[in-house]
Amino acid sequence: MLILGIETSCDETAASIVEDGRLVRSNVIASQHDLHEEYAGVVPEIASRAHVEKILPVIRQALSDAGVGLGLIDGIAVGNRPGLIGSLLVGVAAAKSLAWSIGKPLIGVDHVQAHLYSGALRHADDDAPGSKLDTTNLFPALGLVVSGGHTSLSLLRSWTDTQRLGSTIDDAIGEAFDKAAAILNIPYPGGPNLDRLASSPGANSSIHKFPISRLSPTSLDFSFSGLKTSLLYRVRGVPKKGEPAPNNPPITSDERRDLAASFQRAAVDAIRLKLSRALPVAQSIAGTPIRSLLTGGGVTANSHLRRELAVFASTSNLALSLPAMDFCMDNAAMIAGLGHQLLKEGHADDLSLRAAPSSQPTATLPRPSP
Ligand code: KG4
Ligand code: ZN
Repeated sequence: MLILGIETSCDETAASIVEDGRLVRSNVIASQHDLHEEYAGVVPEIASRAHVEKILPVIRQALSDAGVGLGLIDGIAVGNRPGLIGSLLVGVAAAKSLAWSIGKPLIGVDHVQAHLYSGALRHADDDAPGSKLDTTNLFPALGLVVSGGHTSLSLLRSWTDTQRLGSTIDDAIGEAFDKAAAILNIPYPGGPNLDRLASSPGANSSIHKFPISRLSPTSLDFSFSGLKTSLLYRVRGVPKKGEPAPNNPPITSDERRDLAASFQRAAVDAIRLKLSRALPVAQSIAGTPIRSLLTGGGVTANSHLRRELAVFASTSNLALSLPAMDFCMDNAAMIAGLGHQLLKEGHADDLSLRAAPSSQPTATLPRPSP
């Protein structure tokens, strides 16, 4: 079965053809990074206009890379929630029109759930990490999404049955990485460049002990704003009431490297702490041992986090689903893959499918009675 996936929830216009839910026949991503760089963040209006311009060329390219015509497609999956509403609307409108024109099912997919599917995707012609995942015995699973917009833990009973256990109460972890990079004057894109600097020779991740937010002793939520503020104060100085804003001397390049490594270590420690709290909770809710750790989102590209996730999974006796590097960031292959699973279980939408800025159990409203 061939599914065309479409993804436009933020600043990437993406389309992909996935065969039988796992084999990625094409994966086209048109990034808008250049358009947003000068504003140091995504500008929603610019993002939706760029999606309008790119959506059809990107879909055409995905079909051509996969060597298939629209007539061979068995269903069209689209990320319809959560995200920037103007951006989502472009993908949803394109998906509806195509599904209607070829008379094939339309499937609305939750972008955050789709990130958790990305470790199951296989390249057509290589053996990237995660691509050999045995998916026969993964559930119940603990899910971790770490991206620029989301940080969450969940219990999954299947790819399509998820229960949220915790999420961030302020910044998402990717956002914290990006802000930390800005504080440290690390060039855009912040997260990957901070990772590179923190992994460079001589980096000392113990140079500064940053706070790890535990919240309450049993909380499964995350908070990264304290960590970010702590870095800001370490670099610029601590503000004192009634005194002018502190103005520390600029940090040296060695200090920058070591602060990047220390920040990264603290951010990853926070994830590890919440994973170890969440595992027994997920187990007791599921009533049976958790079999795997499913991960996804842009920050799963982080080298230190990847190592720590592997250690956590192996010491906890869990199979690890870690996306290949090009499936960490936003992409349409994960949308097509999860769309395939939904379709297999009989979940399809009709043309009343809506774009929604937040995750919802279902995005299809009941049809008005005739
Ligand atoms: O999943 P994604 O493409 O978009 C959202 O759904 O939000 O994630 C993008 C985020 C950005 O914040 C980016 O800085 C972060 O992932 N990121 C990284 C790394 N690669 C991407 N953060 C830390 N280390 C990396 N290597
Ligand atoms: Zn994402």
